[in-house]
Amino acid sequence: MADLLKLGVLISGNGSNLQSIIDHIEKGSLKAIINIVISNNTDAYGITRAKKHKIPVVILKNGDLKNKEDFDSELVKTLKDNGIELVILAGFMRILTPVFLKAFPHKIMNIHPALLPSFPGIHGQKQALEYGVKISGCTVHFVDEGVDTGPIIIQSAVQVFDDDTEETLAARILKEEHRIYPQAIQLFAEGKIEIKGRKVLIKNVRSNCHR
Ligand code: GAR
Repeated sequence: MADLLKLGVLISGNGSNLQSIIDHIEKGSLKAIINIVISNNTDAYGITRAKKHKIPVVILKNGDLKNKEDFDSELVKTLKDNGIELVILAGFMRILTPVFLKAFPHKIMNIHPALLPSFPGIHGQKQALEYGVKISGCTVHFVDEGVDTGPIIIQSAVQVFDDDTEETLAARILKEEHRIYPQAIQLFAEGKIEIKGRKVLIKNVRSNCHR
């Protein structure tokens, strides 16, 4: 399977984005293979999802290593041992250290449940609701040393309704996450992504915003 992009997917929880990536791979719209799923949470439901599809899983708990750098070195080793070409953060609730970033320059993607640069960090949906924005959405971006600050690959917008709760907004955003994350990975697999400073240019595409 030499032409399939080798992915390592990092999760902490439900793993619905992992599931969407698996589904897109299985239906042939994403030319990739998940060589390893790594979870920092023993109870993450994403582990069950991975196992169901016979994907190897490694669990590395937050307290397993003595500091953040050692933790990240272990992550890097596991990913390199598995021949990973692109690292996918899918609800992975940890900040990466430079040890990790330097090992995979411009080869780590993240999905965030808000239209960055608005509402970075945790609870992006709650932050958007509390601020009172009328439009929110999600962002796939490369990871850099900041919190949700890396070059943006694709964004998708959703409406915010007056009667939205954090849950209803999160569900509407999640639907878009499941659509644009596999899309961004496929663009990478096709070699269509070019990074110029802060900007990501997609070859032959004029706009990467979906409404
Ligand atoms: C997703 O909404 C993702 O955007 C968010 O966590 C959820 C994971 O869901 N990530 C962040 O907030 C990162 N800052 P999933 O486990 O069902 O894919």
